[in-house]
Amino acid sequence: MGVLTINEEKTLREEILERVRQLYLLREKQKAFTPGVSRVHYAGRVFDEKEMQSATDSLLDFRLTLGKKGSEFISAFCGMMGMRYGLAVNSGSSANLIAVSALCSPNIEHPLQRGDEVITTALTFPTTLNPILQNGLVPVFVDVEEDTYNLDTEQLSRALSPKTRAIMLAHTLGNPAAMDEIMRFAQANDLYVIEDTCDALDSRYDGKRCGTFGNLSTYSFYAAHHITMGEGGAVLTNNLNLYRQALSIRDWGRACYCEPGEENPLGACRHRFDHIYDGLPDGYDHKYVYSNIGYNLKPLDLQCAIGLEQLKKLPEFAEQRRYNFTRLYNELREYEATFILPRSLPKAAPCWFCLPLTVREDAPFSRRDIVTYLEEHLIETRTLFAGNILKHPGYKDIPHRVCGGLPNTEQVLRGSFFIGVYPGLTDEMLDYVAETIHTYMAGF
Ligand SMILES: Cc1ncc(COP(=O)(O)O)c(C=O)c1O
Repeated sequence: MGVLTINEEKTLREEILERVRQLYLLREKQKAFTPGVSRVHYAGRVFDEKEMQSATDSLLDFRLTLGKKGSEFISAFCGMMGMRYGLAVNSGSSANLIAVSALCSPNIEHPLQRGDEVITTALTFPTTLNPILQNGLVPVFVDVEEDTYNLDTEQLSRALSPKTRAIMLAHTLGNPAAMDEIMRFAQANDLYVIEDTCDALDSRYDGKRCGTFGNLSTYSFYAAHHITMGEGGAVLTNNLNLYRQALSIRDWGRACYCEPGEENPLGACRHRFDHIYDGLPDGYDHKYVYSNIGYNLKPLDLQCAIGLEQLKKLPEFAEQRRYNFTRLYNELREYEATFILPRSLPKAAPCWFCLPLTVREDAPFSRRDIVTYLEEHLIETRTLFAGNILKHPGYKDIPHRVCGGLPNTEQVLRGSFFIGVYPGLTDEMLDYVAETIHTYMAGF
């Protein structure tokens, strides 16, 4: 058997990638939408041959673990967001876990301590809340506004106690929260802010990208999100120490933050055996010193290879989301007496994840009636996260405090749902969605 030359490898790769392209085009040809027969999804992967080729190319390298594509992706992502530091992770949930855990790291000044309080909302995706509980912190729930679905900033000062140390907020479904008021309140009271930006990539507040206001921000690249790697996520920050703790927590808790895959046996820092740690033998291998109680939450390099291609498409995806949202919103406007329509703040430029609707209490039908109708007509619907998470079986006994009541959160639990605006929806599909809703509404 001969040795595989560089040229042979290159030719083989090119052939494989060309076949991948052909496969993509063949599959595309078979795609067709028939109203009432094809499903209108609420979200989905939008990609072309570039993502398939990029994933295949990375797979052919067979490095598998995080490396070159991971570094390229995170530096492109940070560049686009205008943030200094970032790390790719395996999901948005992991991003939230890392962000909260970084604020609890003994290696930062004034870390959060067990029993400290974090202001958040009970209208939440579970894994926005879970890291608060997993780190022994106490969530303090404030209500949301009924039409922006975001934290009601008027409740903030009422929620404050001597134990309050942080605010964990999501830009709900891509709708920017009132970041000027929130940051003012946080600064006045010395609170950390984590922005869960998982649903809000490309959303802006006062001209600034969501995710760039707080101490840390988190992103999801799950298939339903603005860009996807299948599964995946990221944490961003402008604070070097928070970044180092986040990285450590992602990577088993180890102290070393050298680039992975470094060839030099003494590590990228060249000081692998030069450190002195209290309680550890002199010269103990720095690569395997553990400075945090960590996890392993890394993505594969292949996921980042897909992410790189998706990132290039974000501007067109965002434009399409905005167009789809506006089209459907305009169709639904006339039903304002029946539905609470979504509202954005004057300074907000949302890039919606979906179009949320709340069936008013005095509507002639229930949420269940309309979502059953839509689903029977193959239009996918989803509830708004957990509605009120406190009503869910797993959360009945969590330590928490509720500030004031949660009437709007309860209203979401009873009456809200959303339909899709993702860039995979065509005009034909949007027409079908609008017509189906008009037909339903004509019955009342
Ligand atoms: C606001 C929010 N945070 C976190 C997550 C979790 O992201 P992932 O599914 O990537 O774990 C989601 C998921 O959709 C989300 O909507």
